[in-house]
Amino acid sequence: MSRLVYVLNGPNLNLLGKRQPHIYGHETLADVEAQCRALGEELGLEIRFHQSNREYEIIDWIHEARETAGGIVINPAAFTHYSVAILDALNTFDHPVMEVHISNVHKREEFRHHSFVSGRADGVIAGFGTQGYLLALRRVAKLIDDKAG
Ligand code: DQA
Repeated sequence: MSRLVYVLNGPNLNLLGKRQPHIYGHETLADVEAQCRALGEELGLEIRFHQSNREYEIIDWIHEARETAGGIVINPAAFTHYSVAILDALNTFDHPVMEVHISNVHKREEFRHHSFVSGRADGVIAGFGTQGYLLALRRVAKLIDDKAG
């Protein structure tokens, strides 16, 4: 299986570090990207890291991943809670999908408790801060290794 992994980030995550730091912490998305790339190197994964405030761009990256990637780590941000289109796109992807939320969405407002993406995700991480991305990458690497093994 391909060792290319897409790490996709939804709306407002470009403001990570500046946006509600009491909830999302002080690290920027560039910090998260650097950590994902460093871990990717350690695990032998090639990382494609993207963020968009536009739903269609996330969908287009999932379609791109369909052709090339062995896994997707996705923090769909607010799209989590209402995007059937992102769920449908993920349902066309045949390899591991990990859903990540920096905050513990279950401890927050009721509307954040439901995720459309969880209907497809092979694993969900919430409330581990930005470390969640790294845990998700480790899981994808393990699933790829197990399949190759
Ligand atoms: C988030 C949680 C979502 O509810 C929220 O809309 C976000 C970020 C998280 O990483 O904790 O933008 O996905």
